[in-house]
Amino acid sequence: MKPVVSKILVASHNQGKIKEIRDMLAPFNVEVVSADELRMPDVPETGHAFVENAKLKAETLAHMSGFFALGDDSGLCVKCLGGKPGVLSARYAPNRDFDKAMDMLLDEIKQTGSADRSAYFECVLALADPQGKTYVFEGKVEGKIAEKKAGKKGFGYDPIFVPDGFDKTFAELGEEEKNKISHRGRAFQKLIQEIFA
Ligand code: IMP
Repeated sequence: MKPVVSKILVASHNQGKIKEIRDMLAPFNVEVVSADELRMPDVPETGHAFVENAKLKAETLAHMSGFFALGDDSGLCVKCLGGKPGVLSARYAPNRDFDKAMDMLLDEIKQTGSADRSAYFECVLALADPQGKTYVFEGKVEGKIAEKKAGKKGFGYDPIFVPDGFDKTFAELGEEEKNKISHRGRAFQKLIQEIFA
């Protein structure tokens, strides 16, 4: 049986993520509130995998608030860097300065001397029911790291990621196009199918 979900607490303080999540849930009759709005704490990401952290964030806040809580753990994995920054994508940015983080990443790739710029974004969504059950959905988008930053839209590493089949970065494509094909968009399509369809 599908759960009845009329309100979701997004277990994140990342405004870029929260905006995308609000947009993706807009067509459904569900109230979306953020951790900031309910003065909920930032849950430390102590896991070593996206799924562990997504569940941890969702289950902690569902338990604290009594609402359904949605945890999103995501990141960028670069092949020639052995999958870095991966689960540490947020922490790779000094003082959350993603402009600097992208420069550092482009530099690290250059240092390897590798011509292989393939990378992927992964997103794991965990929707925790305060009664105990947690639903997990995964989405991935393959692509490559651009030679330099391009575009002003989106957030995080969007200006250096070119999804397969496109010649523009996520930051040039803009949210509507990005949400159709992104890791988060794909994970959401699965969530919507299971929870709201
Ligand atoms: P966390 O899930 O809160 O650990 O943060 C994931 C980090 O990965 C974000 O802070 C971004 O830097 C990066 N990230 C995740 N999804 C995206 C995306 O859609 N675009 C750009 N960067 C992203």
